[in-house]
Amino acid sequence: APTREKLEVLENVLIRVDEHGVITDIHPAGDSMRTLVEAELGDRLHRLPDGHYGLPGLVDLHIHAPQYPQLGLALDEPLEVWLQKYTFPLEARYADLDFARERYTALVDDLLGTGTTTALYFATQHEAATKLLADICIEKGQRALVGKVVMDDPAACPEYYRDDSAETAVAETRAVIDHIRSHPENGAGRVLPVITPRFIPSCTDEALTGLGALAQECGCHVQTHCSESDWAHGHVLSRFGITDAAALDSFGLLTRKSVLAHSNFLTDEDMDRLASRGAAVGHCALSNIYFANSVFPLRHALEKGVHVGLGTDISGGPSASMFEAVRTTVQSSRMLAEGTDPALLAEKRGRPNSAIDLITAFHLATAGGGVALDLPIGIIAPGYRFDALAVDTNARAGAIRLFGETDPTAIFEKLIYGTTRANIAAVWVDGIERTP
Ligand code: GUN
Ligand code: FE
Repeated sequence: APTREKLEVLENVLIRVDEHGVITDIHPAGDSMRTLVEAELGDRLHRLPDGHYGLPGLVDLHIHAPQYPQLGLALDEPLEVWLQKYTFPLEARYADLDFARERYTALVDDLLGTGTTTALYFATQHEAATKLLADICIEKGQRALVGKVVMDDPAACPEYYRDDSAETAVAETRAVIDHIRSHPENGAGRVLPVITPRFIPSCTDEALTGLGALAQECGCHVQTHCSESDWAHGHVLSRFGITDAAALDSFGLLTRKSVLAHSNFLTDEDMDRLASRGAAVGHCALSNIYFANSVFPLRHALEKGVHVGLGTDISGGPSASMFEAVRTTVQSSRMLAEGTDPALLAEKRGRPNSAIDLITAFHLATAGGGVALDLPIGIIAPGYRFDALAVDTNARAGAIRLFGETDPTAIFEKLIYGTTRANIAAVWVDGIERTP
């Protein structure tokens, strides 16, 4: 889905990928060049078996790697309680690198197995465990962006789990950036560093200022949470007298490579601000049901020119699957949409023109994530990285069953609504098979 609302189906094509993982040319059946290319490729040609369908790899634009062990747990509390009661105690345990290694290894395998070829990760406050997560992604070949979480404000973060000072937080962020950029096996830059203030409530002004300056200096990606819940949104308003997005901008944290998770309560001016900076929203439809009690006005943001991709928000969202994120994006947009009965419209139920179709949601989970990150991923076309997966509709254990459908749109719909990990036969990143 290279653009919104447009499904492009490549039937029986030959896709050639160079040694760097970049798609160089695509040949349909009957193309005179195709036979030549096939002969040249010889046994390096990989054929998808009957009943297998290729899709571009999925881009998870917001995920907390350390929270994977509590996926599906403890969703009964509001955000500010959930953080203190469950999440900070869990994340604090990643000071133990053996604990971290076991869990991060399982996560990266499971995400690759579910078709997530790119992930924008929050790690933990710890420098060493953050480096370890980056090392595991490099070893397993997942495209990843990894950030050490900054949380230095004693008013919001417990003593057992916070940065010692703004200065050490910025210095450790810098150390992680250097580690990732100079890693001997990361020459291709498949793993990238990210400046990661957890959210404004967890950071002092000094930390936010230091990270904003670092972002300008090193040109890295930036990620944080923005206007997620009424509480988080209200905290920033009362602390600075301006919105979350405006405050982030004032610290130099809104750049072309910034991703703001959630952003449910953006004003129209905030959206204009994001659009003018080229910053993106990481839309987490499933998590928003739990912590925001709200639906992000996605169509409105798209119409205002804001870049948007989708995220699972593990473990604020209880599913690791980006297929699920696509489904929930469609479903929650329908809940925001207006009623069709004129009497209900008069009651102002819903927000007109909010519904998002399946193709647009899939576009956001692939190409949209690529635009948000400013990376050539998410589309099967020359110049893009070959990040892809193959769905096997013959798999007995899977949820997809085709009954002779031949219409490509129908097959696409069944794939997106039905695919589980059991259906995913192969996963490639940069043209290299990485199926766990
Ligand atoms: N805001 C600050 N930290 C977090 C987190 O870990 N998860 C979510 N969903 N929101 C946050
Ligand atoms: Fe989050």
